[in-house]
Order: sequence, then structure tokens, then C-alpha cells
Amino acid sequence: MSIAIEFTLNGRPCRSDTPPHWTVLDLLRDGLSLTGTKDGCGEGVCGACTVLLDGQPIRACLVLAVRLAGCALVTIEGLEGEALDPLQEAFGMLGAAQCGFCTPGMILSARALLASNPAPTVPEVREALAGNLCRCTGYVKIVQAVLAAARSRSSDGVSTVPAGASPIDCATEAGARQPSGASGWSATTGDPLRPPGGPCASAPSN
Ligand code: FES
Ligand code: FES
Repeated sequence: MSIAIEFTLNGRPCRSDTPPHWTVLDLLRDGLSLTGTKDGCGEGVCGACTVLLDGQPIRACLVLAVRLAGCALVTIEGLEGEALDPLQEAFGMLGAAQCGFCTPGMILSARALLASNPAPTVPEVREALAGNLCRCTGYVKIVQAVLAAARSRSSDGVSTVPAGASPIDCATEAGARQPSGASGWSATTGDPLRPPGGPCASAPSN
């Protein structure tokens, strides 16, 4: 059984089918082939799967995909544009990415921080990224990169996809595939999930 959902993905309307037990991470990686969102621990600990749901960072491995109905989701692919996002540029310039596995989640967490706090302090950056683990860099360069991006950032929009862009065809490969390591809604460890507010707070009834 699959459930049809409609949501906004990286600034474009998206319609997809999802098995009811799939997480957002399953839908992105296995259903929509958006593999920029990384599958680390699968249980809410590492932050590698961080995406923005209505502008708030969430752990995609802990949120059921049906929760996306009516919401706006931004993944690392949503930052694609003619120019690099200031955060991407700063991470590259300052050596804040080594293996890169944590980087998409780091950048999206930092993006949410800068949207609400354009000039954060070091402790504020560290707090915002506390749920994103990095096994390579030691965090110093990551914090420096976020501060550098804050200085260079001229706007705080979330999606770089231009207005009026054509809809994504998200049609429903999801329902025909099996999830890899679906973990469902199992907030077992790590930071508490910050649930989205507004109209997308409830799952579809069908
Ligand atoms: S994969 Fe580690 S928190 Fe989601
Ligand atoms: S750069 Fe390797 S885990 Fe962060």
C-alpha cells in the first residue's frame, strides 16, 4: 500500500507515493534518488540526514514521509544554482569538508541558523550544529566556515530555485521499491525532533 502525498520539494511542487512506513530519508534516497541527504546512523544520532522542513532542520531518518504532505522540504540539492551558496563556498574555501559525509547536513543546519540569526556568535554556531557529528574535521573549520558565510551572506532565502520553475516529476517510483533500513518514527536517541508547525503538522488522512 502506498499513500499519495503532495509537497514542495526544493521550491517546486512534488507529488509522490510513499509506503506508510517510509521515512523522509527513505523517500528521498530510495524513492526520488536524491542521495545528497546522507544515511548515517538511521536513528537520529548523527545528523547526516538533516533537511529543512518548513525552514526547520529535521532528521529525515526520524520523520515519516507522509508528514511531508503540504510542507516545503529543502534538501542539499535545493541549493544548486549558477553560483555556490555562501555556505558551500566557505566550507570549500576553508577546508571545512574532508570526506564530506556530514557536509550536507551541516550546511542545512547552518542555513537554518543563518536564516534566523544572520550574525551568530561562535557559541551559537556550535549550539546550532551540536546535533551534526563530524568524524573528520574537529569542527573548528566548520565553525569558521559558518561565520565566514554569515559575513558574506547577502540574503537569507532558503531555496535558490527560481520562482516559476517547472514542477519536478516525482511520480511514484517510491511505491514500487523497498526501503533500505527504514526506521520509522523511532525517536530513540539524539536531539529531540523539532516538529514542523503550520498546516503541514498533520499527516494526510488517507
Ligand atoms: S542518519 Fe543519523 S540522524 Fe539520521
Ligand atoms: S567531513 Fe567527514 S564526517 Fe565530516
